Amino acid sequence: MSSQNRTARLTSLDIRGRKGGEPLVALTAYTAPMARIVDEVAEITLVGDSLGMVVYGLDSTVPVTLEMMSLHGQAVTRATTRSLVVIDMPFGSYEESREQAFRNAARLLKETGAGAVKLEGGSRMAETVRFLVERGVPVMGHVGLTPQAVNTLGGYKAQGRSKAEWPAIIADAEEIASAGAFSLVIEAVAEPLATEITNRIAIPTIGIGASAVCDGQILVLDDMLGLTGRAPKFVKTYGSLADDVRKAVTDYAEDVRSRQFPGEQHVYALKAE
Ligand code: KIV
Repeated sequence: MSSQNRTARLTSLDIRGRKGGEPLVALTAYTAPMARIVDEVAEITLVGDSLGMVVYGLDSTVPVTLEMMSLHGQAVTRATTRSLVVIDMPFGSYEESREQAFRNAARLLKETGAGAVKLEGGSRMAETVRFLVERGVPVMGHVGLTPQAVNTLGGYKAQGRSKAEWPAIIADAEEIASAGAFSLVIEAVAEPLATEITNRIAIPTIGIGASAVCDGQILVLDDMLGLTGRAPKFVKTYGSLADDVRKAVTDYAEDVRSRQFPGEQHVYALKAE
């Protein structure tokens, strides 16, 4: 199915069915105006917990709360009609037990209207993924570099750099797929490992810094628009919005300071009538 002839909102089953087909387009969005634009093109709109760093200026995603995810998730679902909205479960909202994960996933789906949740982690999270899926919560997995684990990983480093690390990462992917996830984000792994995982599992792999072999790609929207100024090296920037915003703000300031603000003149003209 091409993006042109879509009418109804995509579901996790539609995404699952895209394994090996036309590459899936996924992007993050955190606000209604951006989500509206992403929704015109992408099959998946992710309300990523990267919003903690991108929108709130935090140093990591660790402090992100369920309340933040819920409010941004509501804005994004209101502004989208076509793409599957997936919402990240923030750190601390799902790791403690399967029951905690279900309670918080159900809350996010109820409050936001999103069609699925995403959670980070491989083998250790497989039982939780199965528990959620069996109870009606579609789950997208996330393996390789898992940013919520930055404090144990020691930084945002590529994963599987030595071949000895591959079996564990492959097992992570296989166990999350077997547990019933409908797709899997693979972050910051080299192409041969991404190929191995993509060939072995029956659900679409969505790569971020994991090469073009994946069944789809995702990027943080603000990174690829050139807005954040701190995008990872693997991100191709498709815009330079920070420069555009800076120019607009500077032009506006010049107009204000030289009393050449057309809006104001318009208001004065109206008053004179
Ligand atoms: O939080 C996020 O934006 C993500 C993507 C980068 C995959 O998890």
